Amino acid sequence: MPAPTYWDYLHLPELLHCQGGLDGSPSPDELHFIIVHQTYELWFKLVLTQLRLARDHLAAPHLPEERVPFVVHHLGRVNAILRLCVDQFAVMETLPPQDFLEFRDKLTPSSGFQSFQLREVEMLLGLTMERRIKYAGTDPIEHIRSQATTDSGRAVVAQLEATMAETSLRDALISWLGRTPIMGSSPGTEGDEAVVNAFLAAYLARVEAHQREGGEQLVKVLGGTDADKIHARVEMALGGVRGFLLPDGAEERRARAALLFIESYRHLPLLAWPRLLLDTVVELEEQMVLFRHRHARMVERTIGRRVGSGGSSGVEYLDQTTSYRIFPELWNVRSCLLPRERLPELTGEGRYAFA
Ligand code: HEM
Repeated sequence: MPAPTYWDYLHLPELLHCQGGLDGSPSPDELHFIIVHQTYELWFKLVLTQLRLARDHLAAPHLPEERVPFVVHHLGRVNAILRLCVDQFAVMETLPPQDFLEFRDKLTPSSGFQSFQLREVEMLLGLTMERRIKYAGTDPIEHIRSQATTDSGRAVVAQLEATMAETSLRDALISWLGRTPIMGSSPGTEGDEAVVNAFLAAYLARVEAHQREGGEQLVKVLGGTDADKIHARVEMALGGVRGFLLPDGAEERRARAALLFIESYRHLPLLAWPRLLLDTVVELEEQMVLFRHRHARMVERTIGRRVGSGGSSGVEYLDQTTSYRIFPELWNVRSCLLPRERLPELTGEGRYAFA
């Protein structure tokens, strides 16, 4: 067998022959357009692999402490790729608006809207069909289905449906949070619900006192102006805190209590990695929002406010998608946190020490 070569190992001859576009002879600007898109799709492929690896660890019925760093590792790689993807729009922006118009019409109605891999990323993260923003009444997945009239299209739809049936990172994360010991108590053990409720009640009382004190201080330094408005704002924020910490469902309540517990007592040795894991997920969501936002600004710079080649309202639709939050709990918990010296007294501390 001949020695392996760089070009055969990477299948470069095949890879470098996939930039022909629709007619096999793209202009230099169109070649630029194609290559930028293709590199994104390669990154999306890697993102999907890493998300599945992270999800598989988290979805296991038991996640040993020593495996949490692997989840952080895979998600950290996703974040590094997404940061690059955000920056990469600068390369796309070297295409002047008028030069794009030279070949834009022949692409219609194809669009990044049909990027099935980005849809898979969204599904694997946990964006549900109900929460998707529709454009002109069309759901993005339905849109792909309606356009999938060839063999390649049918393969794309099959791939999307298989991904849709997988456990999402969100579901795996919430179920892992639900299993986290709180104040030394694990789910399924006697008195666990009472421990969780007592922790939440003690925490809530302290948050109320802390945030009301903060409001009073603000009124004082502002010289008493707008006191009523500030008090009303504090009470409204506290209403949000109560709604978040005391949801009706017991499972939801336990998962949120775990989130609060991990964020609050992160100095405990066994909570250090879980807290890092949560932060990595927050960063992932932040990068997704930045990606959507950066794409929308690049689009606005290139085509202005015209209708998208896929038929959406263009920038207006894209800006709406920046409101997606797949992990709202991880953001909401930040409104509830207390400084360390005001935390409820810890019980069961020994459970969180190194063995
Ligand atoms: C000149 C360059 C580009 C323009 C003018 C553009 C424009 C648009 C527009 C208007 C949409 C909304 C759907 C529609 O009506 O077509 C869209 C969606 C999308 N584009 Fe681009 N795009 C460009 C480059 C890119 C690149 C480089 C990527 C990289 C992957 C990308 C990925 C996407 C994705 C994933 C969507 C779907 C967003 C969603 O529905 O959440 N686009 N694009």
